[in-house]
Amino acid sequence: MAKRNIVKIGDDVLRKVCRTQLTFDERLHQILDDMAETMYDADGVGLAAPQVGILRRFCVIDVGDGLIELINPVITKQSGTQTDDEGCLSIPGKSASVTRPMNVTVRAQDRNGKNITISAEGLKARAFCHEIDHLDGVLYIDKAEKTPKI
Ligand code: CO
Repeated sequence: MAKRNIVKIGDDVLRKVCRTQLTFDERLHQILDDMAETMYDADGVGLAAPQVGILRRFCVIDVGDGLIELINPVITKQSGTQTDDEGCLSIPGKSASVTRPMNVTVRAQDRNGKNITISAEGLKARAFCHEIDHLDGVLYIDKAEKTPKI
């Protein structure tokens, strides 16, 4: 495994719509392993592929109860709302209040291409929404009540 550089705000790569991941090979596994290492090293709870310069639809998440890898994730159900401070490893040292669904269900694939469905609430639901937004070039500051000074 190897740590990767995290792309910071201002880089166009964070604003692109990512493409579907079609291959589930050793190369993908290597990138996922590297992303997890990079996320843990930075004390983050999630990291999306464009944040390491890869314009593909996958991300890693760990809110403290184990690593989740989502390949080609889609939110299929959401309910409720929650409002809380949110940050991003690509926007270091900043945070702002963002309203998100309280509960989400996500359909995705695992690292081997198997279909998975995961339901999450609270912080994990927030992390899912935040990371999936990254895959469409959307950052939390686009949805924050007050945009932090960058
Ligand atoms: Co982020």
